[in-house]
Amino acid sequence: MSEIAISLKNVSKCFKRYARPVDRLKELLLPGKSRADEFWALRDINLEVPKGQALGIVGRNGSGKSTLLQIIVKTITPTTGEIRVNGRISALLELGSGFNPEFTGRQNVFFNGRLLGLERKDIEAKFDEIAGFADISDFMEQPVKTYSSGMFVRLAFAVAISVEPDIFIVDEALAVGDEAFQRKCFGRIQALQERGVTILFVSHSAPSVIGLCSSAVLIDKGENLLVSTPKKVISNYQKLIYAPVDEAEKIREKIRNGRHFIKNDIVLEASQEELEYLNSSQTKAVDDFHETYDPNFIPKSTLSYVSCGALIEKPYVTTIEGRRVNVIKRRKEYIYTYSVKFLKKIHGVRFGMVIKTIEGFELGGAASHSIDNPIEYIDQGKELQVKFRFYCSLQPGVYFLNAGILGRLNHSEVFIHRLVDAAMFRVQPEESDTSRSGYVDFCVESQILSFNCVMEE
Ligand SMILES: Nc1ncnc2c1ncn2[C@@H]1O[C@H](COP(=O)(O)OP(=O)(O)OP(=O)(O)O)[C@@H](O)[C@H]1O
Ligand SMILES: [Mg+2]
Repeated sequence: MSEIAISLKNVSKCFKRYARPVDRLKELLLPGKSRADEFWALRDINLEVPKGQALGIVGRNGSGKSTLLQIIVKTITPTTGEIRVNGRISALLELGSGFNPEFTGRQNVFFNGRLLGLERKDIEAKFDEIAGFADISDFMEQPVKTYSSGMFVRLAFAVAISVEPDIFIVDEALAVGDEAFQRKCFGRIQALQERGVTILFVSHSAPSVIGLCSSAVLIDKGENLLVSTPKKVISNYQKLIYAPVDEAEKIREKIRNGRHFIKNDIVLEASQEELEYLNSSQTKAVDDFHETYDPNFIPKSTLSYVSCGALIEKPYVTTIEGRRVNVIKRRKEYIYTYSVKFLKKIHGVRFGMVIKTIEGFELGGAASHSIDNPIEYIDQGKELQVKFRFYCSLQPGVYFLNAGILGRLNHSEVFIHRLVDAAMFRVQPEESDTSRSGYVDFCVESQILSFNCVMEE
């Protein structure tokens, strides 16, 4: 047990759900007959987290991630199963937990510090550091109920990090902090990790999980579907969330049946072919390299704005040869195409596109014409196809495309029509991609020179 920080054996959690609040009351007053529906938020979870590991926990909304964390921190008792925790836990759970809204920030620091096991004098000694990290100035003396969610998480993180935990748990909360604060938090979490602290990190942000965690678990419908490398877990998670409802079970089954085995102390999951490939002493996943079209991999978030006189339709990506793809390769050219129907005559027309990250961050885009030199006008009834050729200088990951038509109405340029998340694609990882980071592929090549080497003429 000493090398294991957290161990869960056959852990399940059943919540009772009552159709009407009065049913709960009736059950209390008239015991014997249950009026509740049973809802299994977690089913038979087995998980061992070795000391010093940073484990990412991913899964769609309502899959059971927060329930799992609350069982680990013992704010919820499991219905069945056994939990063992080895070390002091400090947790930053979902917003709202642990703080008293009527107390000031300062009072909550003391209140929470005590809950986390610190003596009053220790909290006093750490107070300035906590306040400095939270950086919410005068709000420290205001009741927490007046805080924005960002201020709240700043204070909660500052307290949680101050207790020198053995196990540090973060449930998504950081997402509401601004970018500078998130960076500061990730820096602190990485520092904890270097000191050998075990970390559990729930997040929907693929880059954060990949950047921070050494392994990950995919929770779906309360089930532990997969424990593997963060990249593998994220790519299976993405397959699952973009699957149509009638295909999801098939995909779930495929993930579940993936083989688990241990290699270099990391639990990996692999298909039969991958296993054979790995066993032949190579370490790249062969089936990941192809350019393909996956019909399940289409945006669920497409948003069509109200049209002011034209409609964008059929957005898609192809290879230069015209083959439809949504799983593409780095350092190759592709064509993004969409069709446009003009419902009325529009002046000053320009067509546009943008490539974005999953979080909606705009990485880059272009318009067909400059703002000073648009197409003079396009007549009603005209149908066009717009094509943008682009070079894929992106790192492996999932990206979304927007489409927009600009035109002049009442002397100002406006969107005549716009599709947000019109199309999406995945850039496939290649061999040795583990050393890459961020979104943009700058084609970096490294070179190491020795200072005392003699350069040859
Ligand atoms: N106290 C409760 N009573 C009844 N059902 C509950 C209770 N707490 C959670 N649930 C249910 O359990 C399921 C799992 O919830 P949980 O909060 O663990 O999901 P999650 O994976 O953290 O989701 P999210 O990504 O949205 O945070 C949900 O369907 C939720 O409605
Ligand atoms: Mg949650």
